[in-house]
Amino acid sequence: MTRAPLAPYPALRLRRLRQADWIRRLVRETTLTPADFIWSAVVHEGEGRVPVPSMPGVERWSVAEAAKAAKEAKALGIPAIAIFPHIDGARKDASGSSAADPDGLVCRAVKAMKDAAPEVGIMCDVALDPFTTHGHDGVLERGRIANDPTIERLVEQGLVQARAGCDILAPSDMMDGRVGALRAALEAEGLQDTMIMSYAAKYASAFYGPYREAIGSGKLGSGEIDNPADKKTYQMDAANSEEALREVALDIAEGADMVMVKPGLPYLDIVRRVVEAFALPTFAFQVSGEYAMIMAAAQNGWIDEERAILESLTAFKRAGCAGVITYFAPRAATMLGG
Ligand code: PBG
Repeated sequence: MTRAPLAPYPALRLRRLRQADWIRRLVRETTLTPADFIWSAVVHEGEGRVPVPSMPGVERWSVAEAAKAAKEAKALGIPAIAIFPHIDGARKDASGSSAADPDGLVCRAVKAMKDAAPEVGIMCDVALDPFTTHGHDGVLERGRIANDPTIERLVEQGLVQARAGCDILAPSDMMDGRVGALRAALEAEGLQDTMIMSYAAKYASAFYGPYREAIGSGKLGSGEIDNPADKKTYQMDAANSEEALREVALDIAEGADMVMVKPGLPYLDIVRRVVEAFALPTFAFQVSGEYAMIMAAAQNGWIDEERAILESLTAFKRAGCAGVITYFAPRAATMLGG
């Protein structure tokens, strides 16, 4: 882009274009609409809605409530919902086998939501952590997360989700090679229209804390022998960005339709680099800890809740995101007049 040379002050007064709302709206560079959101939400086996204490305003939904929420998304103009399951302890095991249960919570919720509002896209996490007793995203072998055996489980999980009607598979596990394996399995099953949004650059982050409570996946590294206390052998080091570009390149080469950077606000530099390098639909996840920080400060009266929500979401668009996965989706869509 050719940039005009700057006139010197006082010929140039940048405040001229900020003097009234109408001109600010005219020169605005990015816009935020309900169509920018993927609504992240938690489903549970029980009845009704159960509040998540560390995420004020977020509730776990029963399958019936999830169906109602899909209709709400449609009414608000939110294009898609991403669901995360809170699985009963009794259904968990060391290899997360109930992840591939075609009659499990996720598949039932997907079917109910697609029946209630077929126009709303449904995205599912492909990862084992809600289903494992140890809370890791893969199969544990002698204290290590075993990459290739985990991929086999993820493919089974992804296929049952796709068969249930899930529109977008979102592998969030960070195993090497899982996007290619999922894509090949989908093609082989005639599920060529199922999209893949890979959690391509996903960092080992403290900001996922409240999510663990939301889905009931407990503390890592406790209770079991040889259970690593963090996810640093598979999720990325917060200090790296060259590596993020390699992760994204690999997932695109394996057949990802869209990619995601996670967490969101602390990693907008990564979003910008990915958008500039690859020019494909790039999303970011405003994760549970980011949600909790805004809500906690707002509830203490330290920041203006509604302004902070919209400002944070606008930042994702400014950085180049095609959209944002956010727990704020219905609040923000309502504020934006969706
Ligand atoms: C699981 C998964 C996590 C999140 C989404 N999928 C947690 C993790 O990887 O430890 C985080 C979501 C959030 O914090 O809102 N693979």
